[in-house]
Amino acid sequence: MLSIPTVTLNDGVAFPQLGLGTYGLRGEEGIAAVVAALETGYRLLDTAVNYENEREIGEAVRRSPVDRAEMLVATKIPGRHHGYDEAIQSTTESLAVLGLDWIDLSLIHWPNPSVDKYVDTWRAMIDLRERKLLRSIGVSNFTEDMLTRIIDETGVVPAVNQVELHPYFPQSALRAFHAERGIRTESWSPLARRSELLQEQVLQELAEIHGVTPTQVVLRWHVEVGSTPIPKSVDPDRQRENADVFGFALTADEIAAITALERGRLWGADPDTHEEM
Ligand SMILES: NC(=O)c1ccc[n+]([C@@H]2O[C@H](COP(=O)([O-])OP(=O)(O)OC[C@H]3O[C@@H](n4cnc5c(N)ncnc54)[C@H](OP(=O)(O)O)[C@@H]3O)[C@@H](O)[C@H]2O)c1
Repeated sequence: MLSIPTVTLNDGVAFPQLGLGTYGLRGEEGIAAVVAALETGYRLLDTAVNYENEREIGEAVRRSPVDRAEMLVATKIPGRHHGYDEAIQSTTESLAVLGLDWIDLSLIHWPNPSVDKYVDTWRAMIDLRERKLLRSIGVSNFTEDMLTRIIDETGVVPAVNQVELHPYFPQSALRAFHAERGIRTESWSPLARRSELLQEQVLQELAEIHGVTPTQVVLRWHVEVGSTPIPKSVDPDRQRENADVFGFALTADEIAAITALERGRLWGADPDTHEEM
């Protein structure tokens, strides 16, 4: 079994440096994929109300021989559940669908600034953490201004901000802000899902040099820049390949060469304008 190292979040929780994305993992095939990932050594499972697979994730947690206390189950509050009471209700429902006694990490899935309720949602999450129903609380797709606002209005710094991040969109300025404020960066679509990223020559060359695959070079780059990637794979062999990135290191020049692939967001999901319910 692989051992995935952890970092300490600003609330003291040990958080894996790599986790499993679960978007699209549904039904028996999805449950089997998550059980296989736990067997391989994954401990962080990233789901969301909107992935409609919390039931499957909870079932995999129960079927796995891995101790529940060793795993971190992360879910997300959707846009339609923004607001104080709505967020409490959303979490109660997630706990019921997951069939779990607590959620290790809850995130606000999208800020939806035109609705202007993410601060109320955040207040509910702070209270749910007090009640020990949530262990860690964070956000997703928040900009520096949005992070500053919830910190200023509540005094509570998110443990995590999960954002689009891959070599085509390295988010250097936001990562620097996170580092200043003690927020852990998490990378969604870390492999730049279905783009031509893995065919980039620089990745092919570095894979050759280090005796690994281009995918492993990309995931190691996330680790080196201080972000937790959550690659999704249904396949146990690809899951193992993705998690096996702690036995080699990239040099500063190699990291810079990968970061130089920057060209911007791939799917136009700018949190100032893109909203999801
Ligand atoms: N917070 C947000 O707004 C947000 C948005 C998007 C995603 N997410 C989270 O981030 C997770 C990851 O993002 P993602 O699923 O969009 O994209 P991703 O992890 O970058 O890429 C997943 C795709 O890559 C393939 N793949 C995985 N490992 C591979 C390997 N070793 N070699 C070749 N292909 C490989 C997968 O296919 P197979 O399954 O067939 O291996 C799948 O098609 C999601 O599952 C979700 O949990 C969050």
